[in-house]
Amino acid sequence: MAASSTLSRLNLVPRPSLTYALTTLRALKPRCRQQSRPQWAPLSSSSNSFSAHLSTPKNPNPSSPKPHPKIPGPDDDLLVLGIETSCDDTAAAVVRSSGEILSQVVSSQADLLARYGGVAPKMAEEAHLQVIDKVVQETLDKANVSETDLSAVAVTIGPGLSLCLRVGVRKARKTAGSFNLPIIGVHHMEAHALVARLIERNLQFPFMALLISGGHNLLILARDLGQYVQLGTTIDDAIGEAYDKTAKWLGLDMRRSGGPAIEELAHEGDAESIKFSIPMKQHKDCNFSYAGLKTQVRLAIESKHINAEIPISCASSHDRSSRADIAASFQRVAVLHLEERCERAIEWALNIEPSIKHLVVAGGVASNLYVRARLDQVVKKNNLQLVCPPPNLCTDNGVMVAWTGIEHLRMGRFDPPPPADEPEDLVYDLRPRWPLGEEYAEGRSEARSLRRARMHPSLTSIIQASLQQQR
Ligand code: KG4
Ligand code: ZN
Repeated sequence: MAASSTLSRLNLVPRPSLTYALTTLRALKPRCRQQSRPQWAPLSSSSNSFSAHLSTPKNPNPSSPKPHPKIPGPDDDLLVLGIETSCDDTAAAVVRSSGEILSQVVSSQADLLARYGGVAPKMAEEAHLQVIDKVVQETLDKANVSETDLSAVAVTIGPGLSLCLRVGVRKARKTAGSFNLPIIGVHHMEAHALVARLIERNLQFPFMALLISGGHNLLILARDLGQYVQLGTTIDDAIGEAYDKTAKWLGLDMRRSGGPAIEELAHEGDAESIKFSIPMKQHKDCNFSYAGLKTQVRLAIESKHINAEIPISCASSHDRSSRADIAASFQRVAVLHLEERCERAIEWALNIEPSIKHLVVAGGVASNLYVRARLDQVVKKNNLQLVCPPPNLCTDNGVMVAWTGIEHLRMGRFDPPPPADEPEDLVYDLRPRWPLGEEYAEGRSEARSLRRARMHPSLTSIIQASLQQQR
């Protein structure tokens, strides 16, 4: 599995504004069998405002590495390594706090996806394990930096597949521990939203975000860093899952995942030919549902006797055009559902925060040009501006993790370096089911049937509790 990579340079970032109290997000505290003793000895609190908020400023172990010379300060030029392994992409990047992307590498498990039509956690873990060291090394090499140049390591700790998250977290802790670097635990969906601030310098809080990926469909109001109101989420499947299943049932080439294959084929089809019904019309809220649309698509495929065993490349021209009609009709309705929910969410969000000017659309599905064009119309109608990261920053990537790490680091939210000799079999604090924000009370829907068991408290509630402690 070859690691593919891209490199781009951007210098478009606003300077940080430190508007609220610094606090430490203890996001990566290991639930270890043996309590690990912190070994980081920050400089005196007068030299750096972050260090004043760390709980254990003494170095209890004289044999541990010396304090890192570059304990980050809010105005420092920070250099952060971001690591992402929450699903099927092993990704890393090195990003500067100026917004310059020094390098990024993504090794995708496209072959596995094509072979099995979905992500099998054990195999995905295995694939991450095979490439993680190589991906991180290649990222550092391409950036022409070594670990000692870094200010911190950021890593996705949830939501995602535990087995996969664990690979990234272990690598991040190993790197941070060996080079005495602070570490930041990142929320995957927050990272999808915040990467938009790296590319759009005018994007200030508050703003709205529609986050659409393989596992998530979220409409949020981002009031401030770490302060999110969840306006809507999916009650069953996410839109990316519907794209992937439709592509699989239509016998499309899944090597670039199902979404791009459907987007391409849809150009050939008649989007009005099959009248799929728009989900959740009767629910006047901002939640989503794609399970019903999936079923409608499956029934349409069966009724047209389409055989997914016959790849589209071998289909007759009649068969191909039937498949294209289904792809186009599915895409039209899947996106209409997004449009309707966004219309309502904009109304709600403007009631809460009338100063909102932007809707960010991010996550893998946001790389779809039809999705972007349709949502752009909705946004313009409401006198807002659409912000979409470039496609390689919409699908899972290390840049978004590094950038989110930088945003939190500047606010003093990070953990001290792990011990250099941390055991490999440590039980980490991973958050496979981790809501981003608190649900908007007036938007609660009777149709919502979220399984809340084993769910971690939301990122927003953790940050709010930590801010209150500081007062
Ligand atoms: O954000 P992402 O890379 O990973 C997750 O966090 O899930 O999103 C992956 C999803 C997949 O379902 C993939 O089919 C979808 O994004 N996707 C697309 C397109 N590119 C990726 N869906 C529609 N059109 C695209 N061009
Ligand atoms: Zn994602």
